[in-house]
Amino acid sequence: MLQPQATGDGSYTFYSPEFRETFHSRSGAREEALGKFVEPCRLGALASQAEEITLLDVCYGLGYNSAAALTAIRERNPHCFVRLWALERDRQVPQAALERGLLADYPPAVTRDLTTLVEQGDVKTPYFEAQILWGCARQTLPQIIKTDFQADAVFLDPFSPPKCPQLWTVEFIALVAQCLKPKGLLATYSCAAAVRTALKLNGLTVGPGPQVGRRSPGTLASFDPAWIPPLSPAEREHLQTQAAVPYRDPSLTDDPETIHRRRQGEQAQSPDLEPTRQWKRRWYEQNLENAL
Ligand SMILES: C[S@@+](CC[C@H](N)C(=O)[O-])C[C@H]1O[C@@H](n2cnc3c(N)ncnc32)[C@H](O)[C@@H]1O
Repeated sequence: MLQPQATGDGSYTFYSPEFRETFHSRSGAREEALGKFVEPCRLGALASQAEEITLLDVCYGLGYNSAAALTAIRERNPHCFVRLWALERDRQVPQAALERGLLADYPPAVTRDLTTLVEQGDVKTPYFEAQILWGCARQTLPQIIKTDFQADAVFLDPFSPPKCPQLWTVEFIALVAQCLKPKGLLATYSCAAAVRTALKLNGLTVGPGPQVGRRSPGTLASFDPAWIPPLSPAEREHLQTQAAVPYRDPSLTDDPETIHRRRQGEQAQSPDLEPTRQWKRRWYEQNLENAL
């Protein structure tokens, strides 16, 4: 049974016993949805110019990212048509969030549309069309690719790479990238070097996303570098360390242990890459010196 847990901004998240992680940052679940996903994708600004916005929500969970996106778009342009695809493995998560009233602080029309989405699997109104695909995103995403769907914004929000490496691999991100418009933006909370490398290997430019709650920034990525802030020198050097060896899952079917073992093997065969501990020490010491 999923029990709501309070976060720093007064909103609630769940804890996953399977992944041994909370679904959101402890500092604020709603704040994370808005600050790490919706705002960096510039959806408010886009809504004031566009008649239609397309969204891909990878790991729908409680639905906060989609709810925050719809809220931001409606505030700017109530008549903007929104098309959303959502991917989620576990139906019980969004159902439990709705039963507990965790989406009640979003506008009633948003909550009503997302309730229909979760209960029926799809929803169609004059200004909103959405479908949610249940199951492992590695298997469901190809169904979306077949429809030639292209997103203005992609929210990539799996559990962390150590706990859920299968959704951060070069091969899975290749599928995600196929759904991103040439000028679209992908946002994720992770700043892991392995994740940034996987995005880069798929032709995306990566930069830091906003720092919300957690101490580290997220990542923003696009095929078009115009909206991507530059990586700092420390972040660029991070991509030359062993931490930058990406996760791989050639058949898109491997379990987490196999994916971790494959990466460890690749790291062992990459003696030219700097040990990440050394990189951390160098930047940590330098930051300390700068602070004195
Ligand atoms: C960090 S939570 C996402 C939080 C969510 N974006 C929100 O706004 O509430 C990760 C989600 O990924 C889902 N998940 C885990 N493995 C998955 C998989 N292989 N395919 C699709 N979803 C998965 C979990 O059930 C969980 O809901």
